[in-house]
Amino acid sequence: MKRFVLAITGASGVCYAQRLFDCLKPNAELHVIVSERGTELLNLELGLKVSYFSGDHVTVHKNSRINTSIASGSFSVDAMIIVPASMGTIGRIASGISETLIERVADVTLKEKRKLILVPRETPLSTIHLKNLLTLDQAGSLVMPASPGFYQGQESMDDLVDFMVARIMDQIGMAQNLMPPYKS
Ligand SMILES: Cc1cc2nc3c(=O)[nH]c(=O)nc-3n(C[C@H](O)[C@H](O)[C@H](O)COP(=O)(O)O)c2cc1C
Repeated sequence: MKRFVLAITGASGVCYAQRLFDCLKPNAELHVIVSERGTELLNLELGLKVSYFSGDHVTVHKNSRINTSIASGSFSVDAMIIVPASMGTIGRIASGISETLIERVADVTLKEKRKLILVPRETPLSTIHLKNLLTLDQAGSLVMPASPGFYQGQESMDDLVDFMVARIMDQIGMAQNLMPPYKS
């Protein structure tokens, strides 16, 4: 079973994280971390409340609790996905600040040369945002802006969410049947 860290931060688009969680849950060990602002966005956009628990190969960690196994480089994960990734979190990771668990695990993921996928959502992007994204790209992370395509007959918001989640699943090597490969 593959092992992933799924981090949810305070940007719009927490529906991507919820869908990714639902798709990964049956076949992966999941470690979920939600930032304080991410908690607010989950409530605001989806009416969801975060509860902390461990069981059934899912653990929800407190972002304030950095003294935990997943904060160590010896805890091997297949990928960390930050979706949605706020510009605040991106800036702090790009600066090497690893104060919260999300920032620390991202820092460790980069230093251990593991896969770090960032799904930012902000518009427009400032020079600072762009520089931070470039820094993280150059440090080895993969930047996948939350920008679904409209060319495969998408009819609903769910289809647009699935487009992004399918691309993330492809990147982390998880089989998906949400969206077939593009055919002309
Ligand atoms: C309703 C709401 C929507 C927001 N949407 C975004 C967004 O789409 N992208 C972004 O980068 N920041 C957004 N922010 C700002 C971040 O939440 C803020 O910078 C926060 O400090 C990020 O904290 P975190 O990265 O620890 O979650 C939003 C804030 C609020 C209250």
